[in-house]
Amino acid sequence: MAESTLETVVYGAGEVVVGPSGGDGGPLETHEDAAVAVVDGDVAAVGDAEAVRREYPAENADTAIDASGRAVIPGFVDPHTHAVFAGDRSDEFAAKLRGRTYQEILAEGGGILRTVEAVREASTAELAANLAAQLDVMLAHGTTTAEVKTGYGLDTETELRLLDAIERAADGHPVDVVGTFMGAHAVPGGRDADDYVDEVVDEQLPRAADHPAAAFCDVFCEEGVFTVAQSRRVLEAGRERGLRPKIHAEEFTRLGSAQLAADLGAVSADHLLHANEDDAAALADAGVVPVLLPGTAFALGEDYADAEQFRRAGADVALATDLNPNCYSQSMGFAVALACNGMRMAPGDALLGATRNAALAVDRGDGTGTLREGTAADLAVVDGPSHVHVPYNFGVNTVETVLKDGDVVAREGAVADA
Ligand code: NIG
Ligand code: FE
Repeated sequence: MAESTLETVVYGAGEVVVGPSGGDGGPLETHEDAAVAVVDGDVAAVGDAEAVRREYPAENADTAIDASGRAVIPGFVDPHTHAVFAGDRSDEFAAKLRGRTYQEILAEGGGILRTVEAVREASTAELAANLAAQLDVMLAHGTTTAEVKTGYGLDTETELRLLDAIERAADGHPVDVVGTFMGAHAVPGGRDADDYVDEVVDEQLPRAADHPAAAFCDVFCEEGVFTVAQSRRVLEAGRERGLRPKIHAEEFTRLGSAQLAADLGAVSADHLLHANEDDAAALADAGVVPVLLPGTAFALGEDYADAEQFRRAGADVALATDLNPNCYSQSMGFAVALACNGMRMAPGDALLGATRNAALAVDRGDGTGTLREGTAADLAVVDGPSHVHVPYNFGVNTVETVLKDGDVVAREGAVADA
């Protein structure tokens, strides 16, 4: 009976990564010489190749994929991106290398504010097409679930258009997209911050919260952007309307935003370059997922976050790309490599950070980011015998084949034809 509906078998895997051992909090659990069988888009069996084959012989599958000794990992979950935007800021990359700082560029109306100008001029169709193109690259690099923030509109009409663009790009795209409203991403030029926070709370939020694409509300809590008090106002207003809080916390300066995340029961606190031991403990105790973005530190030439301090505190450390015009990378594999080489994370911990813990950071504690019986068959075949090859073989796309809900959706670095 099981055989008649057997869709896909991935056999001959040198290793299959299933998730945290014990199902929760433990180190990465892997099986050698393993296979995965997929029925109705879900994992029907995973583990020892012989055991899987007895119940689900590859000959009976609609699609049989010979992994030829390669590793199979859960599809990456990217829990922090600003992937919907327009325009180009590559000139700022060169300027930063010459010594201009991110904050100087922003204070002069560049950075986020420059992207805002380009976004306001773009049609919603263009924004959706731009995002779909980013999602294609992410998918080809193994990302099967991604969070996408608004925040380059900074007025009601454009913030809502960004949510429309997220909805349109996600519709029919294999990447599972989770949207975040981030009207409080920057203070628009010439505006007073308190006055703009009034607009976010009174005008933008009520409409954004009703939008089907919005699940979370995020704020850039930073010196020269939004204070802790202003951030609290926005996040509490969002929470009242059903959007769980997320926060850009302690990125350039330590303001107390990690503590705010803990107080509010935020789903995640992100960046945390300047968070300390007390912040780490507060987040861990409150069940807030610390999302570390090593690509941002890399792009800015800043010191990396102290990943070990969050691990010691008992938190489920997650990783993300932070894909945006300042940190232009769609690759979770590269984030994993930076986490290992820059933050000294063990490869297994980094992989958990990019899969299961990243899923927790977008409130998907349903097995997303793991490969166990009953979870969605979102997976990537890696060009190497173990998951360690993801960070070890850095600077290339180690992801060879991607399955979403059991369907092959990308192959050899390109999206597969539907
Ligand atoms: O997470 N820190 C604030 N926001 C983004 C950068 C956005 C941009 O520069 O366009 C971040 O790094
Ligand atoms: Fe960000």
